[in-house]
Amino acid sequence: MTDITVQLCGTKLENPTMLASGIVGISGSALVFAAQHGAGAVVSKSIGPREREGHNNPILVEFKGGFLNAVGLPNSGVENTIDEIRFAVKHSPSPVIASIFGGTKEEFGSVAERIAEAQPALIEVNLSCPNTAQDFGMPFALSEEDAREVIALVKSQTKIPVIAKLAPNVPSIKPIARAVVDAGADAVSAINTMPGMLISSHARRPVLHNKEGGVSGPALKPIALKCVYDVYEAVDVPVIGIGGVTYGTDAVEFMMAGASAVQIGTGIHYRGIEIFRLVSKEVADFMSENGYSKLEDIIGAAHG
Ligand SMILES: Cc1cc2nc3c(=O)[nH]c(=O)nc-3n(C[C@H](O)[C@H](O)[C@H](O)COP(=O)(O)O)c2cc1C
Repeated sequence: MTDITVQLCGTKLENPTMLASGIVGISGSALVFAAQHGAGAVVSKSIGPREREGHNNPILVEFKGGFLNAVGLPNSGVENTIDEIRFAVKHSPSPVIASIFGGTKEEFGSVAERIAEAQPALIEVNLSCPNTAQDFGMPFALSEEDAREVIALVKSQTKIPVIAKLAPNVPSIKPIARAVVDAGADAVSAINTMPGMLISSHARRPVLHNKEGGVSGPALKPIALKCVYDVYEAVDVPVIGIGGVTYGTDAVEFMMAGASAVQIGTGIHYRGIEIFRLVSKEVADFMSENGYSKLEDIIGAAHG
């Protein structure tokens, strides 16, 4: 018998696939839809302190290796969104994870405190948004100090377990992972998109209105695998792998790098909402074909 259930910070997932943040929008019913289609857990779009418009179109463009997006964290703010999380928590067959962001460290704390009232199973902290208190708005995920302080503030506001979501564009992800775990993070997810740009030769300008964006999909996978591998070596909390998971083999590779579960975003474009069931079955098939009975047998297996 092959067991693909996961225990993540006290929450049971029926399978190791999770809906990644931002992929199906902010509505509670979209989260429920993904859960009904087999996602072991669902993560909301990142919720911020107040209403905020996103970037102008074009915001999303496909290329050979995946997608480039600059949606700009469009948001109706925590007060207008909390009921969507309540709806999802009530109706979703699998655990709901609320993703949050802020422009300042204090805003992360206040959004966490408020969203906790909707009782999500976990809170994922999106550290990739820019720190608006700084002159050049460097993302919190790029600084050990900033990342540590944000997680400490969030932890001081809620008893709900916290996942710190890290960014790939750092010289070394290990010290950042250690900093967030020192501050109390119960799990680490890696990674958010990687900064990138596409140019239109005809228009002689960047394709996205925002010029630069974040790369997701298969092109991100090797970068994400290294990040997960490094984070697994640096900390003792569960790691969640994100970046280009499209097939069961991708998920298995992330687990061998050290992930306890994986999140899927762009893959939905390639395989539809059935991707959660398909990837779960492909993982289970891989395990039974290779004599593994539980996920613990493969998690971290690629480490010497
Ligand atoms: C259109 C779009 C919107 C996204 N919005 C968010 C977001 O609100 N918060 C967040 O933490 N990550 C966001 N992400 C990043 C994804 O959650 C994920 O980390 C990334 O896409 C890599 O996974 P994938 O290759 O499976 O898509 C977004 C990605 C895309 C493509």
